[in-house]
Formats: sequence, C-alpha cells, structure tokens
Amino acid sequence: MNVPSRQRELHLEPGFLEADFVAEYSKETAKFPVEFRPVLQFVAGHLHAVGETDVLEIGPGPGWMAILLAKSHPGVHVSGIDVSLPFVEQACENAVRAGVADRVRFAVGDAAHMDGIDDATFDVVMSNQSFHYWDAPEGVLDQIARVLKPSGVFCIRDDRRDLNLLGKAQVLLGRCFLSRRIGSSWARSVSGCFTPDEAEAILERSQLRGRWEMTCTPRTLLVTGHAARAATEMPLEPAASAEG
Ligand SMILES: C[S@@+](CC[C@H](N)C(=O)[O-])C[C@H]1O[C@@H](n2cnc3c(N)ncnc32)[C@H](O)[C@@H]1O
Repeated sequence: MNVPSRQRELHLEPGFLEADFVAEYSKETAKFPVEFRPVLQFVAGHLHAVGETDVLEIGPGPGWMAILLAKSHPGVHVSGIDVSLPFVEQACENAVRAGVADRVRFAVGDAAHMDGIDDATFDVVMSNQSFHYWDAPEGVLDQIARVLKPSGVFCIRDDRRDLNLLGKAQVLLGRCFLSRRIGSSWARSVSGCFTPDEAEAILERSQLRGRWEMTCTPRTLLVTGHAARAATEMPLEPAASAEG
C-alpha cells in the first residue's frame, strides 16, 4: 500500500531549456534503457505485423525511447513533440548518431495544442515521465484521443508522488546512479507527480474517459488504453420503422 501524499508541488525544471543541462540529462538517461521497458513492451505488443506503424511520443526529451523502438522495429516511424528546443535538438542529434533519423523525427510543440496534426493520424501514442509536466493534462489527453486512429492505443508512464517505503528507496537508489544535478532534479520532480487517484480523475475528465486502465508499482503509474469506444458504449441505432 502506498502512503497518503503531501500536497502536489510542481517543479518546472529550468534546465529543460538549457543546452548543457539537456546534454547531461541525455548522457545520464542513456544509461537506463530499463526505464523505457514498460512502455516499449506495451507498444511492441501493438505494432502492425505487416506494414508500418506510426507512433507519436509526447515529451521525448533526448529521444532514447523512440530511438530504441525504431532500432528494434524496422516498420516503425516515430514523431516526437516536445516543448523544449534544446531537447528537440539533442534528440535529433541522438537519432542521427543511432542511424534512425529517417524514421524518427522530433519537433518543438506543446502536446496540448497539436493543431498541425490531423485527426486519426497515429496507431500508437506513448509518453514516459512527462505527464506531470503538462499544464493542462486533460487537454493533452483530449488531443491524444483526437490524433489516434480508431484502432489506436496509448501508453503513458510516470512517477507517482505517494511513494511508499519501497518507492522512496527506489528513488534514493536511482539517484546514486545519476549525476548530482540530474539526480536531484528527478527527485524534486517527484513532488509534482500525480497520485493514482489524481491521475484517474484527470483521465475521467478527458475524452479518454472509460478507455484506460492503470497498473501501479511503488514508484510508477502505467496508463494504457485504446481510442475506440467499446461496443457497449456505442449509441444504439434507431429501431427500423415497422412501416418501413
Ligand atoms: C522528465 S523529461 C522526460 C524525457 C523522456 N521522456 C524520458 O523519459 O527521459 C519531460 C519532458 O517532457 C517535456 N514536456 C513537458 N511538457 C510538455 C508538453 N506540454 N508537450 C510536450 N512536451 C512536454 C519536457 O520538455 C521534457 O523533455
């Protein structure tokens, strides 16, 4: 059981807009591909067996998750949108170095305003450790519902604020493997994360209402779901008139 949480205190990391912080973040997080595994496992289970799969990543930061996905699945194309120009530049450079820049693209943008993206464009939307930074999380979820194809799925992973003892130990241990600056930024960011109850309320206020499920660990939330309404949610066809 996780513990009652303190008030949420959003820590907006100023370093996300600074090239040297971003370069250090990129180097440090490259050491932990295991962090992306829960999202990548879900996504891998929803790739098209034949043909190509279009994936959108929200808040890719240095882009490692998109790059790993593209390297292991040749039919995947990933578009990443991030509010930070230094992160987008770093992610583009990382994709070139990894040899996947032809299938992995990053652009500056706020996921709450994906006006340039047509409805029903993507097969998959994924995001890791970005959810708690979204100014208007319901707005971003509404956009996810809009840009997903009717057959599309989504997967959002984030830390949670209501850490129990094991969760706290995981954060403490994780910090030991990160540089001082990146480790303390991460630990501070946890106080801005949502509890499962808060995340549930946000999801239920959005266009993804009723189309998601959540799996929790002592440290994280994993929200997965699908774009299309379940058959039971469909409005009934009006009954055919007896007079025909
Ligand atoms: C903690 S970093 C996570 C980066 C990467 N996903 C990872 O797991 O290492 C959070 C990222 O979300 C981005 N971000 C925050 N709000 C956003 C928004 N509204 N739209 C797009 N990206 C956003 C930040 O610029 C930052 O790159």
